[in-house]
Amino acid sequence: MEQANETVQKKNLFSAIQPSGSITLGNYVGALRNFVLLHEQYNCLFCVADLHALTLRQDPAALRRNSASLIALYLACGLDPEKNIIYCQSHVPEHTELAWILNCFTYMGELSRMTQFKDKSQKHADNINAGLFTYPVLMAADILLYQTHVVPVGADQKQHLEICRDIAGRFNGIYGDVFTIPEGYISKTTARIMSLTDPTRKMSKSDAEDSYVAILDAPDVIRRKFKRAVTDSDAEIRYDPENKPGVSNLLSILSAVKGTTPQEEAQALAGQGYGALKEATAQAVIDTLSPIQARYQELIKDKEYINRVLQEGAEKAHAIAFRTLRKVYKKIGLYQV
Ligand code: TYM
Repeated sequence: MEQANETVQKKNLFSAIQPSGSITLGNYVGALRNFVLLHEQYNCLFCVADLHALTLRQDPAALRRNSASLIALYLACGLDPEKNIIYCQSHVPEHTELAWILNCFTYMGELSRMTQFKDKSQKHADNINAGLFTYPVLMAADILLYQTHVVPVGADQKQHLEICRDIAGRFNGIYGDVFTIPEGYISKTTARIMSLTDPTRKMSKSDAEDSYVAILDAPDVIRRKFKRAVTDSDAEIRYDPENKPGVSNLLSILSAVKGTTPQEEAQALAGQGYGALKEATAQAVIDTLSPIQARYQELIKDKEYINRVLQEGAEKAHAIAFRTLRKVYKKIGLYQV
């Protein structure tokens, strides 16, 4: 009886990752690791945001491969499809249906203030498509469909979460309490893992390969990338992101995968050179990723299992999403039969 009560009171958690290219250590430390830490406490939905990935040109075969690979990675990290809903965004049509409605409650002005839109437009000047502009509206639909309380993300998604809250608040202001207003879960020291080759920039899968560690990188590749990581010219191991971004980034990564704090790691390595910091970070990352990689290699071979997880996930997600969408349609006056 007690257990049933607990289930009823659990809050809802939603998050997603785009299946575009390699999933990085930034994705893992900034988001995926938190999914695993939180997944017992909440009713969770973990989504593969394949529709969001279309805002940049994708090779169709690679997109299909990357979507299955991301599902295998979710499972390999320890997310349990029996307890969580794990699915693909494009398998649940309510996402795009709600996105259209929310488009009509979102202003051009607020979308044009999004820094990710500005960055991506600059990077892909030949393909500034409307999807790139309305990207945050689809993301708001993802979150709001499931009456989400908590959204674990990295710092780069903070502005998108704010606009989601604004859209939900605006809608509720007109029609009553239709949507739960979500809160971000952004962990302080790992919200922004930086590039290994330029620690003033965010680690990103769209940059050069040496600038990021991919979750599926082999141990020798991980070691080599950390060995070449940019630090600074003094020799003190100290956590000070503003003045020592490279060293602090390594301390953030090291402490995140060990479950300690950057300050504790700095203290443990005090008096040693940067070589020791790089080696310790590489080793801790390899120790964390190796079992995940081994499970991943097993899972990715089992397409039948992956498809079953996706099918069941989509059915469960659809059942919740359908209820919210019906409510929205009714509130705004769409004729229902
Ligand atoms: P995406 O695929 O770019 O990144 C997935 C998650 O990883 C986080 N992240 C990082 N965290 C710390 N340091 C980094 N260097 C780093 N790089 C990436 C991101 O903040 C994100 O949490 N729009 C989203 C996907 C999405 C979504 C959603 C997320 C679609 N719908 C609804 C939450 C809720 C995105 O592009 O993430």
